[in-house]
Amino acid sequence: MANFNRYLITAALPYANGPVHIGHLAGCYLPSDIYVRYLRAKKADVKFIGGTDEHGVPITIKAMQENVSPQDIVDKYYKIISESFEAMGISFDIFSRTSRQIHHETAAEFFLKMYNDGRFEVKESEQYFDEVKQVFLADRYIIGTCPNCGNEKAYGDQCERCGTSLSPEELINPRSALSDAVPVKRKTKHWYMPLQEYEPWLKEWLLEGHKEWKNNVYGQCKSWIDNGLQSRAMTRDSNWGIKVPLPDAEGKVLYVWFDAPIGYISATKELTPNWADYWCKEDTKLVHFIGKDNIVFHCIIFPAMLKSHGGFVLPENVPANEFLNIEGEKVSTSRNWAVWVHEYVKDFPDQQDVLRYVLCATAPETKDNDFTWKDFQDRNNNELVAIFGNFINRTMVLMHKLCKGKVPPFHIDVRDDKDDAVAAMLQTAKQKIEDALENFRFRDALQEMMNVAREGNRYLQEKQPWILAKTPELQQQNQALIDNCLHLCLQITANLAIFCNPFLPFTAKKISHMLKVVDRMLEWENAGSLKLLSVGYSLRPPELLFKKIEDEQVKAQIEKLHAGLKQSAAAAAPAVPAAPAAARPEAAPKAEIQYDDFAKLDLRVGTILHAEKVEKADKLLKLTVDIGTEKRTVVSGIAMHFKPEEIVGKQVTLVANLAPRKMRGIESQGMILMAEDNGKLVFVNPNEQVSPGSGVS
Ligand code: MF3
Ligand code: ZN
Repeated sequence: MANFNRYLITAALPYANGPVHIGHLAGCYLPSDIYVRYLRAKKADVKFIGGTDEHGVPITIKAMQENVSPQDIVDKYYKIISESFEAMGISFDIFSRTSRQIHHETAAEFFLKMYNDGRFEVKESEQYFDEVKQVFLADRYIIGTCPNCGNEKAYGDQCERCGTSLSPEELINPRSALSDAVPVKRKTKHWYMPLQEYEPWLKEWLLEGHKEWKNNVYGQCKSWIDNGLQSRAMTRDSNWGIKVPLPDAEGKVLYVWFDAPIGYISATKELTPNWADYWCKEDTKLVHFIGKDNIVFHCIIFPAMLKSHGGFVLPENVPANEFLNIEGEKVSTSRNWAVWVHEYVKDFPDQQDVLRYVLCATAPETKDNDFTWKDFQDRNNNELVAIFGNFINRTMVLMHKLCKGKVPPFHIDVRDDKDDAVAAMLQTAKQKIEDALENFRFRDALQEMMNVAREGNRYLQEKQPWILAKTPELQQQNQALIDNCLHLCLQITANLAIFCNPFLPFTAKKISHMLKVVDRMLEWENAGSLKLLSVGYSLRPPELLFKKIEDEQVKAQIEKLHAGLKQSAAAAAPAVPAAPAAARPEAAPKAEIQYDDFAKLDLRVGTILHAEKVEKADKLLKLTVDIGTEKRTVVSGIAMHFKPEEIVGKQVTLVANLAPRKMRGIESQGMILMAEDNGKLVFVNPNEQVSPGSGVS
């Protein structure tokens, strides 16, 4: 951090076409907020930029679905989204909108500068056109079958099932998302960025220069660049968006992924007249927090735009998170399989920090992860209540009881090794938390913070001041020891306020209030000190920091989740399992792969030892499969096709090195290969019995 004098932190601008859910929070808003709060506590010069993305097909489609204007949609959701973030303590310095005048001007100027510098190619090409609705079909206006995984509802820009980025031409059986009509081809003109020209530079800047980026981010970028980049249209045919600022561009707007990231710049302009310090001076550290579906735009396309325009700093890091599933199933906004932030804050008033804690503790930092309400309850009850809250509450209660409500003195003459160890423990914690935060390992940082509370409890338990004060006589005799214990417990409590502040800002405030300290005490440089509270200072009575979450509350949330699912548009179909183990689409041709891709698969023959239905999941069977060296649990979506008892003893082929996935709370440790013949499923197995564990290649 030595070379940077200011920080510019951005969090992806969510589309203003729906409320935000906890997957959004876990993906980028919570980590960015933790990072920013930590930087502010270090007194760094930092700006935290957010806002809504109000252009593009996601908005116009939603407007059409709700039969209102795009403006109505963005106004409605800007309000809900910004209120949700505010309620959760996401502390943006500005939360702007890409529909604002300043953004239209900034984005148009950006385009014009690139245009004048000859950075675009103009190309006329044939594109899909919907004759019923009389519009060109790009991005999400067009759906069809994914050439990679066979998903029949892939969009013209991306398949949401397998994550592949697509162009409309690649879709098999394309249809209009608006009218379902089969589109025809029509000529249209667009401005393209020749991304292939940026390849040598991207290799040097990103692949050579940023090997420290997270594996999931670096890997995706590398595969994009290695596969070869192509020209990409930066304009669209539409009347919703930023008009292309050229005379011969009637009916053309900027591509939403061209305008939206420029929104970070416009919002900074709106925030401060010194915006150029943040965007143009080399000693700025620019960090983009995003979810994994935004990686290519933030790591390749936007940097190429910045480079092409010139004069801007480039991102130092893009710590993208993976996805958060809910109760073992992928979040689906269309099916309403989601936990909505604006509903959470209503259902759990004054418990924002519980959600912040749980989402940070289970953040999908390196792989997709699962949120369950049971885990939410457990972490609250067993960690926040039983460890963190308990330590501080015991400290405050004992201090009021045994030390007259004042910070007791520390008597050097009776101190012991355990007292001496406290200072070192706090110093180590400070170091570890800093280290983790600066490397975007938020889960680890949170763990270290909790360890301080654990250590506090342990210290208190060893000292047992309540035993030392069992009778008034004993207390009198032991007062110096009691003072020392509670003096240190109070200093640990004050340290906890500093340590938890980035993660649990509402709780930090409550602790400060109890300790009657000013906000300045929460500055990071104070962490590790044993002199945060002055002797003789009288403190407030303890306040409850966390309360138990009851079984009924959890049950109600799970019911709400399932009830919401039924009401939604795609009612009949169950939510998509996170790792569809079977029920795969019919065989569509897939893109060519290299032998190395194939060789990554560890395929083994196994024998099914046991099979049973998974409760409340019509489609799933839980299998135990013997693969020679070990037995694997596999959750497979084949319950509609086989009775459990029929398949015990059968040999199957197992993908044995697939990352484990939790489905309905069961960890599935592999996937079974099936052939599908017109809806009928058949196991793929060797035509003779072989020993379990035999490799397939
Ligand atoms: N609206 C996009 C999404 O929700 C994110 C845009 S990020 C920005 O996926 F940088 F383009 F603003
Ligand atoms: Zn796909």
